[in-house]
Amino acid sequence: MNTDKAECGHLAELSARLGEQLDGYLSFRHPDAMQQADTWRQALELPVPENGVGVDAVLAELGQWVIPNGSPIPNPGCTAFITTGATTIGALATLAGSVAAPQRIGLTAFNFLEELSLDWMARMFGLPKGMKGLYSSGGSVANLVALGAARQSAFERLGIDPAREGVCRPCRLYASVECHHSVQRAAAVLGLGRQSVCKIETDAGGRMSTTALRRQLMADQGENRVPIAVVANAGSTNRGAIDPLREIGETARAYSLWFHVDGAYGLPGILDPRVQPLYDGLELADSVIVDPHKWLGAPVGIGATYVKDRELLNRAFTQEAATYLEGSCTTEGVAHSMDNLGIPYADMGVELSAPSRGAVVWALIREIGIAGLRERICRHNSLARHVAERAEAHPNLDVVSEPTLSICGIRYLSERWNDLNELNRRIHRRMVQRGRSIPSTTVVNGALAIRPCFVGARTTLKEADELVDEMLAVGQEVARMNEEAAG
Ligand SMILES: Cc1ncc(COP(=O)(O)O)c(C=O)c1O
Repeated sequence: MNTDKAECGHLAELSARLGEQLDGYLSFRHPDAMQQADTWRQALELPVPENGVGVDAVLAELGQWVIPNGSPIPNPGCTAFITTGATTIGALATLAGSVAAPQRIGLTAFNFLEELSLDWMARMFGLPKGMKGLYSSGGSVANLVALGAARQSAFERLGIDPAREGVCRPCRLYASVECHHSVQRAAAVLGLGRQSVCKIETDAGGRMSTTALRRQLMADQGENRVPIAVVANAGSTNRGAIDPLREIGETARAYSLWFHVDGAYGLPGILDPRVQPLYDGLELADSVIVDPHKWLGAPVGIGATYVKDRELLNRAFTQEAATYLEGSCTTEGVAHSMDNLGIPYADMGVELSAPSRGAVVWALIREIGIAGLRERICRHNSLARHVAERAEAHPNLDVVSEPTLSICGIRYLSERWNDLNELNRRIHRRMVQRGRSIPSTTVVNGALAIRPCFVGARTTLKEADELVDEMLAVGQEVARMNEEAAG
């Protein structure tokens, strides 16, 4: 079997075939993967092959068994979690990078776009002047990197290098009860311990209470713990809430604390003039994160951390020098793209090998510009408002979480059900199984809510209306089934 066909210039032909298969997938006429799980599992579950079948056969198997049984996440009716499919240009630029610049290192156009696209985002989202970025695999790692910088800063002020010496004192991180759980994991990985995260209560809108934050900071004074950072949400995962950034930032300053803003989901919301004022105070941040793979439509695997002082990242994450790496490079007489690794991103985070993510973000912005992205973000925010308005107007629906950005929380009401959480849990399960509208759920002040989050580039008013219609239809059906069961 000729195993080298794809290695010899057949990419155009083969990727055209793959493109057809993917276009077919994106028409969303196929059944859900679980409906034929036995069939495709049987076809795929083979012993590890001694001999290959060749690129044509693999491509055929991809088209027959794998792609049609992929995920509903790119479907415009899927509004679960905070995730979506890549836009076409995002997918294409990823392919381009994987072929033409499989590593971000080197003095290539791809490496150049790494920095340029980070700077473009910083400008687009109004980040403090001078902030510089670093890509990683997503929001969890981006938070880890930012909090690593915060840890470095806090300990250096005590004359300790935590990256070298380890964390030798109990620490404290402050974040709201609505913070993303990657904050606790980052605390664990950084040696601060999950318990170091002190959860600050929120107001009725899910925003951190600055009164409670100040109270806690005051109470903790004189304690033998190293305060590391205050983490604020610019778009919380559950509700899309934006914490009062200015008040939190000023409080952090007053206590000489690092101010981190988690905008993994919500930072691009700043492009919507209706909510832009809520980002007031962003300029006080010492670090900010944003995930292009959420609201910007990048393929999953792209997050970004911004800090005011990238040198700090270098000290927090630098690796011991490796002769095979640095020894192969030069800064003098640079004339070849492999003479130099380019900006040493690998020393600023936790990844050495890493794909060229910058070209993807560059392509996403270059394709439709800030105006196109703004239009999409405003549309998504309007969809959440539209769903909330329809819910408000319907006697069987209730809004339990008003949208700030593109998330809202609504639930079905029925006088004949005592346990509305159970009713809505069942409605949600049934909606998922029908597969037309796939939101997720959350709990707001004890109330289980159906929670659509609109971030898909393909999602329009049609899908927002379908979600409400589907919820009403399923709600009636589930309520009726219960009555029948009761006799
Ligand atoms: C606010 C926030 N921060 C961080 C994350 C983690 O991002 P990722 O899933 O890309 O690791 C999420 C994920 O939804 C999030 O909503």
